[in-house]
Amino acid sequence: MSNKELIEKIVSLKREKNAVILGHYYQCKEIQELSDYIGDSLALAKQAQDTTADIIVFCGVRFMAETAKILNPERKVVLPDMDASCSLEESCPADALAKFKAEHPDHIVMSYINCSAQVKALSDIICTSGNAEKIIKALPADQKIIFAPDRNLGGYINSITGRNMLLWDGVCTVHDAMQAENVLKLKEQYPDACVIAHPECNAAMLAVADYIGSTKGMLNFIKKSGKRQFIVVTETGILYEMQRENPDKQFLTLKNNADCACSDCAFMKLNTLEKLYSCLLNESPEIVMDKALMDSARRPIIKMLDMSKQLGII
Ligand code: 13P
Ligand code: SF4
Repeated sequence: MSNKELIEKIVSLKREKNAVILGHYYQCKEIQELSDYIGDSLALAKQAQDTTADIIVFCGVRFMAETAKILNPERKVVLPDMDASCSLEESCPADALAKFKAEHPDHIVMSYINCSAQVKALSDIICTSGNAEKIIKALPADQKIIFAPDRNLGGYINSITGRNMLLWDGVCTVHDAMQAENVLKLKEQYPDACVIAHPECNAAMLAVADYIGSTKGMLNFIKKSGKRQFIVVTETGILYEMQRENPDKQFLTLKNNADCACSDCAFMKLNTLEKLYSCLLNESPEIVMDKALMDSARRPIIKMLDMSKQLGII
């Protein structure tokens, strides 16, 4: 089937089945165009909580689809490719975190949303890159915190809040591999370019960034900025929305540098138009989870969403 035929079939199936397509900014252009909502992890969790559609087709990675199911268990949630994992999730097995937590009984656990439902169930509160700073600042200053699983995001939050959270030693392999020296080489060619980076990048990379924020944060920053050129240090899928919203601005990536072609998330890119069509048609693969696990994992996610509302983030 051609892309045009696939798109027509997806649109009509979506109407017929009262389905909603939630897509992350790292999805391919065709999937972003077909999505009813595109957003960062926080906005997508909020959409998943609020939707009244019968089926949520989650075009992102598995932990995001699981979060949607946990927040709205009455809905059927499908994911085009069940192998769409996340290196951060994989870097934090729940049994190892449970052991670490038991060794630090005076600490609460704050987990980045990029983790398994089992890790969420062990956590006191969840955060995303879009709300981590404000949530941490709203917690009592003397509260001891274990932060899992992203040592880069946790280290960045420590550096801007003066906290001393204990960091789990996990990384996003996509962002952690992005090298500051490649950005500096690009800066030599484009000295006026503004460097914007996702906080999953390593500390050396973040040190050369002019702006650090979530995918949505970066989009907001670019819209308001008077700058014309941006070096974008995150997954390349976001370039579609950046260019769509800012047709007169120029976006450069580390792929402009022959040394580095590391800006694609293989997990995010497992989803394709064909798989999206097939999962909507067959309502499979479906996210099926144990009720007790969902109930335990929901508590810290709801806490995050409630705090995000109180703090005016969503
Ligand atoms: P955002 O919440 O900023 O969209 O990040 C999700 C993610 O997986 C980044 O790698
Ligand atoms: Fe996970 Fe990194 Fe892919 Fe985001 S880019 S989904 S953190 S592996």
